[in-house]
Amino acid sequence: MLSICVFASGRGSNLQALLDAIDADRVDARVVLVISNKSAAGAMETATARGIPAVHTSDTHFASESLYTDHLLKLLQEHHCDFIVLAGYLKKIPAEIIQRFSQRIINIHPALLPSFGGKGLYGHHVHEAVLAYGCKISGATVHMVDLEYDTGAPILQKCVPVLEEDTPGTLAERVLKVEHEILPLAVQLFAEQRVTIEGHRAIITAKGNRP
Ligand code: GRF
Repeated sequence: MLSICVFASGRGSNLQALLDAIDADRVDARVVLVISNKSAAGAMETATARGIPAVHTSDTHFASESLYTDHLLKLLQEHHCDFIVLAGYLKKIPAEIIQRFSQRIINIHPALLPSFGGKGLYGHHVHEAVLAYGCKISGATVHMVDLEYDTGAPILQKCVPVLEEDTPGTLAERVLKVEHEILPLAVQLFAEQRVTIEGHRAIITAKGNRP
């Protein structure tokens, strides 16, 4: 069973969707730790309400990146985390952690990567850019986390239509619904060991076909 640390900076609806899927036995995992750079984040309240350790920490609390990294690694080790989910986390994960958790750290992004991803394209900025470009579809991507923003191999993606009358808010709401669908599905693929990374591709093996 995966022991997951969720990093979140915001309201935590993706964390909630994952917890709901776990409760419904659709995901064979447990969330053992939530880390946020915002003490008042909804994700922290969600974790605390369920008795999940919720730790507020930020690189600004440390004199150096390496001290911050050591602190995060200690937290991950103390809680026996073997998988990391970034669910609306707005800070960069230190490179050493990405390397230590190679192929065991994923992110949910509210667009169809590689379009509308990268530094500065988060939250409503993404939907504003999609509308400004005149796209007819958008969607969400769960992807591997590598050393850059939003550049890791996609694992699952799902489209939504962009409507003529859409605002960034209405589009965000439609995309968020599919985020809540594909994030738990992606975690379960890892729980079933059905994801193999080959180059920049995440190969998903059929259920029961594990080598
Ligand atoms: C989601 O739209 C996610 O795609 C993006 O940040 C938002 C987080 O929302 N990375 P929530 O905190 O999970 O509700």
